[in-house]
Amino acid sequence: MRHLLIVGLICAMAAPLALARAIPNPNQKHAPGNESPQTPIAQAGYSTPVNYQLQCAGCHLGGGEGSASNDTPRMKDFVGNFLKVPGGREFLVRVPGMSQSALNDAQLADLVNWIMRPDGMAGKSMPEHYQPYTTEEVSSIRKVSMLNLPQARAGLIAKMREQGIAIEDGMTPQY
Ligand code: HEC
Repeated sequence: MRHLLIVGLICAMAAPLALARAIPNPNQKHAPGNESPQTPIAQAGYSTPVNYQLQCAGCHLGGGEGSASNDTPRMKDFVGNFLKVPGGREFLVRVPGMSQSALNDAQLADLVNWIMRPDGMAGKSMPEHYQPYTTEEVSSIRKVSMLNLPQARAGLIAKMREQGIAIEDGMTPQY
């Protein structure tokens, strides 16, 4: 009788161990049709608007509206103004969202040039003579990190003000 009790107790204690399994299960199969390993975005060959949706829109929103409550400036009809002040061209590629993105240099150059269109996000903020970014330019700019982003940005905004540019970035109070 006592033996039976001990065996019963051992069985009860061992049950959770028998049920336990490794997560994720190393023997699990891929879902049908989903067997190939994921392709990194830098090799995926998506179009530029799709790259924007995947890498940028989460913060900047679909049309570049930005979101003041999330400290994300508006790009729509404003971002082109950075190209009108010295240092702005480099700043645009050095912000972490750009320089640290998973896109390769050519994709990033295409993306900035796609943003900088009179009928695109930059809209009415486009400078008169736009020089498209090249892959080589983006490659060398993105390697240099920005040490003090808020200070660098504030300096560029101050230079825009000197030129009489309205600071419609959705972040800065108008006065
Ligand atoms: C995690 C959120 C986030 C992601 C993702 C992101 N950004 Fe940003 N971006 C910001 C914030 C916040 C700023 C303001 C400067 C700063 O704090 O970095 C900014 C600044 C910028 C600026 C400078 C404009 C200004 O007014 O300062 C550009 C241009 C820009 N981002 C483009 C992009 C692009 C293109 C991508 C995608 C490849 C991207 N960002 C991804 C949050 C993000």
